Amino acid sequence: MSEMESRIYRFEELSSTNDWIREHLPELENGAVCIADRQTRGRGRHGRLWSTGLGENLAFSILIEWPDQNENFTGLALTAGLCLAKILRDEGLPAIIKWPNDVLVHEKKISGILVESILQNRKKFFILGIGLNVNAGTDFLARIDQNATSMSVVAKKNFDRDDILQKFLSSWSRTLPALLSSGFGFFLEEWKALSGTEGRQILVNPLEPEKPYTALALRLLPDGRLEIQLDSGEIRELTSGEIAW
Ligand code: BTN
Repeated sequence: MSEMESRIYRFEELSSTNDWIREHLPELENGAVCIADRQTRGRGRHGRLWSTGLGENLAFSILIEWPDQNENFTGLALTAGLCLAKILRDEGLPAIIKWPNDVLVHEKKISGILVESILQNRKKFFILGIGLNVNAGTDFLARIDQNATSMSVVAKKNFDRDDILQKFLSSWSRTLPALLSSGFGFFLEEWKALSGTEGRQILVNPLEPEKPYTALALRLLPDGRLEIQLDSGEIRELTSGEIAW
């Protein structure tokens, strides 16, 4: 997928850009981007809502047709988080990545990533959905139930959302081919350098009925799993899920 090839579908309002891509999949070309000024039912991970505000932030999704037999999709969200963190740093914001794919600035969430997969006509597709708080003010952020921040709040100036989108698409157009051909291991060191995860005391929130437990985040493995050490000394590898610190 190159920048030239990605067609961008723009909307003032959609329920969710991920849902729009899913609903229009048969008509869309690989790499299609859908962006909305506002989402009425923006979705986050683990069934949560994602608020975008009106025309202040970025909410977009990219359709990715995945080649048969290629297992490197485990790195999709991790590398998307890496691209976002690098763009924020280029803009002067001290972004870090929290495993698996939250981007934080000053310990507050600035961006979220939702990757969904679809199997259609024996072809595998992914929808990479990204929400980035660009120009949201403190009023909007205070209404979000998470500890959230925005680029403008941190940098004390507004950003051109289209410019940030183009920077992401440009970075992603170089990243995706490398992920496809080399896997997440290719990005491991770079990811580690921008991640605030390793060495942290974390709280792991597993799926029900298992209860949350504390652990030490030891290291990220080349396939994107997180190696942790429980208080009992037991070593585990997390494949996905949610951690807090
Ligand atoms: C998270 O829970 O951190 C993930 C949030 C993902 C939000 C984005 S906004 C664009 C795309 N459309 C959606 O409905 N969700 C994703």
